[in-house]
Amino acid sequence: MSRISTTDVMTFKSLPTPFSMVTAYDYPTAKLADQAEIPILLVGDSLGMVVLGYESTVEVTIQDMVHHTKPVVRGSSSAMVVSDMPFMSYHESPQNTMRNAALLIQQGGAGAVKLEGGRAICNTITSLVDAGIPVMSHIGLTPQSVHALGGFKLQGNTEKSAKVLIEDAKAVEAAGAFAVVLELVPAQLSQIITDLLTIPTIGIGAGPNCDGQVQVSHDILGLSVDYTPRHAKKYTNCGALELKAFTDYKTEVEQGTFPAASNYRNLDPTVLKHLQ
Ligand code: KIV
Repeated sequence: MSRISTTDVMTFKSLPTPFSMVTAYDYPTAKLADQAEIPILLVGDSLGMVVLGYESTVEVTIQDMVHHTKPVVRGSSSAMVVSDMPFMSYHESPQNTMRNAALLIQQGGAGAVKLEGGRAICNTITSLVDAGIPVMSHIGLTPQSVHALGGFKLQGNTEKSAKVLIEDAKAVEAAGAFAVVLELVPAQLSQIITDLLTIPTIGIGAGPNCDGQVQVSHDILGLSVDYTPRHAKKYTNCGALELKAFTDYKTEVEQGTFPAASNYRNLDPTVLKHLQ
């Protein structure tokens, strides 16, 4: 079966129903999300916070991203896999940017990369696209710039900052991005940007007016053990289920009720006889 392509994603813009994207960082999550027919799996650098236990996404390296992109590609067969270019992996030099993007595509197996930033990184977007590497853009709250933005705050809520975001959105489309993530942007601004662009917008904390929605899988599965953002909805509480399972397992080991007869095998009595 062939995977969803960037061309497919661009056609989602004209569909009457919004589409979904979710993060995945490992084989089983990728397999289940693919089975659920979620068309885009994002190996987000949120990996750093929800899986690796870092304070922010800033610590994530290109090697981390390659390492986690591989199992997501192995676990999925129809979804498009998009991999985040982490902090400072696309700022040093054009050569270094190209090498890092190539690692995600060639070694990781991703179908596209995602870059944070608007007008400031348009030349980078164009160079990657010209080299045959599809680019998803990410504007609004860009977590890699959390220190410069002064925290995980709503973006584009003043006239000036809203106009900046509109210009950024138009610029990344003109630079060649095939889709753009809008993070923590007021719903009415997402609507304006979505109406202005010909490429799909994918919102997170950006209201219902985007062409698609993206969520961090740990947030919607109830696995974000430290913090769940307001914009996320917990569809289940895997965290509570895991905690109960670990506690039950520990108790049964201590009580001697695990392993039970069904969990192990006995030695053939004729063999045993010769050993005693
Ligand atoms: O890293 C990530 O998970 C992301 C999403 C929040 C869009 O970039």
